[in-house]
Amino acid sequence: MAKDAATNHAFAAFYTWIEQSFDADAVLHFGTHGALEFMPGKQVGLSSSCWPKKLIGSLPNFYCYCVNNPSEGAIAKRRGFATLVSYLSPPLEHAGLYKGLRKLKDLVASFRSSPSEEVFESIRELALALEIDGCQDEREAEEYITRLHSELYAIEERMIPLGLHIMGEAPSPESVGDHLALLAEHSRPELEGKSLPELVCNHLGYDYNQLMDNLGSNRDAQQRWQKVSTISREAVKRFTGHFDTNSTLPMSMLLEGSFIVRKEESDNFLHREAGIKPAELNRLWQFLNVVLINLAENNELKAVLHALDGKYTPPSPGNDLVRNPDIVPTGRNIHSLDPYTIPTTFAQQAGKLSAEELLLQYRKESGENPESIALILWGTDNLKSDGEGVAQALALMGVKAKTDELGKIGDVELVPLAELGRPRIDVVMTISGIFRDLLSVQVKLLDKAARLAAAADEPLEMNFIRKHVQYEMSERGCTFEEASNRVYSNAPGNYGANVNHLVESSTWEEDNQLAEAFVSRKSFAVTPDGQWQECPEALRSALKHVTLTFQNIDSYEIGISDIDHYYEYLGGVSKTVEHLSKAKPKVMVGDIDGTGKKQRICSLEKMVSLESRTKLLNPKWYEAMLEHGYEGVREIDSHLSNTYGWSATASAVKNWTYDQFNETFLHDKAMLERLASLNPHATMSMTKRLLEAHSRGFWEAEESAIEELQELYADLESRIEGVHH
Ligand code: BEZ
Ligand code: MG
Repeated sequence: MAKDAATNHAFAAFYTWIEQSFDADAVLHFGTHGALEFMPGKQVGLSSSCWPKKLIGSLPNFYCYCVNNPSEGAIAKRRGFATLVSYLSPPLEHAGLYKGLRKLKDLVASFRSSPSEEVFESIRELALALEIDGCQDEREAEEYITRLHSELYAIEERMIPLGLHIMGEAPSPESVGDHLALLAEHSRPELEGKSLPELVCNHLGYDYNQLMDNLGSNRDAQQRWQKVSTISREAVKRFTGHFDTNSTLPMSMLLEGSFIVRKEESDNFLHREAGIKPAELNRLWQFLNVVLINLAENNELKAVLHALDGKYTPPSPGNDLVRNPDIVPTGRNIHSLDPYTIPTTFAQQAGKLSAEELLLQYRKESGENPESIALILWGTDNLKSDGEGVAQALALMGVKAKTDELGKIGDVELVPLAELGRPRIDVVMTISGIFRDLLSVQVKLLDKAARLAAAADEPLEMNFIRKHVQYEMSERGCTFEEASNRVYSNAPGNYGANVNHLVESSTWEEDNQLAEAFVSRKSFAVTPDGQWQECPEALRSALKHVTLTFQNIDSYEIGISDIDHYYEYLGGVSKTVEHLSKAKPKVMVGDIDGTGKKQRICSLEKMVSLESRTKLLNPKWYEAMLEHGYEGVREIDSHLSNTYGWSATASAVKNWTYDQFNETFLHDKAMLERLASLNPHATMSMTKRLLEAHSRGFWEAEESAIEELQELYADLESRIEGVHH
């Protein structure tokens, strides 16, 4: 995201050069982050004397942007004068199981059909060797198997993006079917707020909520759920059918034409399997058919040519498909939203639920509420969820948003303690530069919430914000105003915490350098009059009380190892807390809800393992990347580096991750040859990263493995140099 100034200036000079050298009519570029957007200076209301405007002048700027990235897209429009042309994100698929994980699943199935001591022992052995979570402890067979089944199911069913999207290419019928099935698995207005699996449950006489609650601990629930989800998916698959993406007929005609037939096929199936009447499903099929047509008929390239012709590009929301299916068709200009509607009523309800869920999870492990939480807030997920993260922060502090007579949200008020029923939690918010720029109304709400709570005349054991503010005032002799700063970001015009750049370039020696980088970039607090003031001491003091750090994960499409910014922010703040308080905080993430019902809270370690197992180490994931050749190898390297970032900032990566990475990619001669011939630089970078993980004590490896990697590194180096001779 935040490029350094030199890159910015080089890019900007490039625009001027293009225009002057070629007398260009327009620029067209691809990617998810740019140059003009991150120039120093004003974020909104740019004038002709601002750098971006001076450099790009009147040159039209067409920018192909991933439809799931509305926040960076909005900056590109505001500061880069871009007309966006949206494109789809890579297709999502279930991660599936492979190698030992698959074998383990087969063993579990064979144990369930004919239990034996011998099979159980092999299961335990394999589960231990693979270090599946929660499979170390002794437990009696049935309970052990149920637990293991649930862990394997979570891996197998996880949705992962596969490969890279090629602009203008429509997803395959299978992939379209998977997307439709995923949509139907979430609560839908077309089914009166139920999901298709919930409807199937009801008709089969199962209690849906009970089933969901018991999935981790009850064999019957697991089997019932398997039946329910198989029926739902099969129904959607029949509805999707096998359309011909190469047909000369427009997809809309083809798919409209076959609607009745496909609908009947699925209706009959659901009636037979679950006794659901077709009338209950009409609106669902109509809705899915529209999404189907919009996904299958890909107009992205036509849209680019249309824009370059100087014609109108229609607007579109920016989101992931599950949250907002209106993002298709792509090939449109992504727009932002009305800041005075955020957080919406729905987001407020959801945010409150997930705030309580977070406290519940923390209490389960620690026995009491956390006094202070460091929360990371980004633009992306808040734009996509209409401010759920904002609502979560307000709810933790025991504050609610106020709506005025015009229906606008512009103020907040305290929820009385008697109604809240628990203490107000202190929340130290580190917001991204993008959040600061795009959601300035929400910055005010959050800031006011913290200051209202700090000023409330309430018992300190029921108001941790006030407790810490009073402590800081007497301890450091600072003002009430400074001690109640809770919303921190970069200096205006500045983005990022820099932790990722230090980690990627290996230019840090001690942990405290990462913490220092974080504080020096992120210590600008918003003041009651809306200015940003540098207050590193106040940030350090506030973070000292923190025992839990938290961030919401954006979507299935962008997980914590897909980009470097999660460890930059959540890892960065966690390392800073560890450094300041001399204790490692608990680190948790808000996982996307699989059922559309409630948010799941997950420990960072567990999420890092899940990401590694479903992506980096999963043949389905990396083979899809390798189909993209040079770029695919670069992606694998970048996922390794992002995973490594969680070692550097939060010690959250298990040893097996590096072991298995080495086994899969570098120790395996055939794979190594593939990687090295496609992209020797990225292969060398992986080798170097593993050696670094070892030398920094993140990976305990056999001496022979390290020697092999050192030799490989030397080989690759001469191979690359050889190319230049
Ligand atoms: C944001 O949406 O706030 C964001 C996006 C990319 C990196 C960091 C933050
Ligand atoms: Mg980036």
